[in-house]
Amino acid sequence: MDKKLFYDLVETHGTPLLIIDHNKIRKNYLEFREKLPRVQIYYAVKANSETEIIKTLYNLGSSFDVASLHEFNLVFNLIKNLEPKKLQNFVWNNIIYANTVKKPDSLHFLNLYKPLLTYDSVEEMEKIKIHCPEAGLLLRIKVSDEGSVVKFANKFGIDPKLSVDLIEKTIKTGLGVEGISFHAGSQCNNPQNFVKALQSVADIFEEAEKRGCIIGETVTTGSPIKIVDLGGGFPVQYNGTEQSFIELTNIINKELDRLFSVDKTLIIAEPGRFLVANAGTVISSVILAKHSTEMPCYHLDDGLYHTFSAIMYDHLEADLKSFKDWEKNIESKVFGPTCDGLDELSENSYIHGSKNAFLPRLSEGDLIYQENIGAYSNASATHFNGYPPAKIIHINN
Ligand SMILES: Cc1ncc(COP(=O)(O)O)c(C=O)c1O
Repeated sequence: MDKKLFYDLVETHGTPLLIIDHNKIRKNYLEFREKLPRVQIYYAVKANSETEIIKTLYNLGSSFDVASLHEFNLVFNLIKNLEPKKLQNFVWNNIIYANTVKKPDSLHFLNLYKPLLTYDSVEEMEKIKIHCPEAGLLLRIKVSDEGSVVKFANKFGIDPKLSVDLIEKTIKTGLGVEGISFHAGSQCNNPQNFVKALQSVADIFEEAEKRGCIIGETVTTGSPIKIVDLGGGFPVQYNGTEQSFIELTNIINKELDRLFSVDKTLIIAEPGRFLVANAGTVISSVILAKHSTEMPCYHLDDGLYHTFSAIMYDHLEADLKSFKDWEKNIESKVFGPTCDGLDELSENSYIHGSKNAFLPRLSEGDLIYQENIGAYSNASATHFNGYPPAKIIHINN
């Protein structure tokens, strides 16, 4: 973090302030593309749905994974002036509605645009048949999320053993099945999750073919290309001990080449965190510094109901820092601004492996910052207690 820029931005905008650096987003996107050359990138908008981020990625040629009609419209706003044929092509080729649970009225609206959707049950398939028969479908399978920080297998995905039956039923109903998707758990530190998931996809394709189910060659596209959707899970270096991205991508590339021919398969992925996490830094002010307590207690103007909701929902291990010069850091407690006792950053997160923070002696008005907080942070911030979410400033966009 550039110290001068940091202080200039705080002087202009006050705190709490979330700074999003678009140079980092561009760098992440280009790195992803370079390391996974066969993969079409669909940015998972849920990680951070700021319009400026969507614009930057759109300008780089990204496609998008949306989880709701609202997110669909955030992307759609950028393309709505394209001529009808180009607009339809963009929706079909560059947006995936990758939430296996959709509201009927959203489906009804999406049917206008022939969207690509995921599903994982016969019930959702029947709902799609009624409300969005023009859609192309990807069946989401349940895969191992062992060793991933955020889990999904409890809620999403059909048992791979049952998937060909459902594919058969879907095709008989008259819907087009375009491919298979999975999610190996977010912040995946276990490459074997991808290895096993890719093998399952290849086995399903083989079994489906044996049973005469044509995946990809549908009434909607007339194309024989099957889609393999790797989901998200691509890991970020928060403290340097995480799974290496390069090592993971080497393993994935090897499996892709072993299992899926280039001319018959389109590989896509839905990275969220990987593209935006390290682009976000939040700056917060100490609004009360207690030194009369057993341990210094700092109350900040941002907390667990705001940007630091990443601790609650995304298992962020906070690493709070200060620019203040001090000969030694002291064990300290850190709280958010609301009236809830739960709103304690130190108790809810491991900070340098401890439940407490280690900070210089701070006073009211001093600043604290947290890097690598661009994913799943402002996305889940609330207005609880009347404290609005941090102001967001975009730099280098
Ligand atoms: C369906 C789907 N795709 C992609 C993502 C993005 O995952 P990640 O941030 O791990 O890349 C998520 C995260 O919740 C998801 O649910």
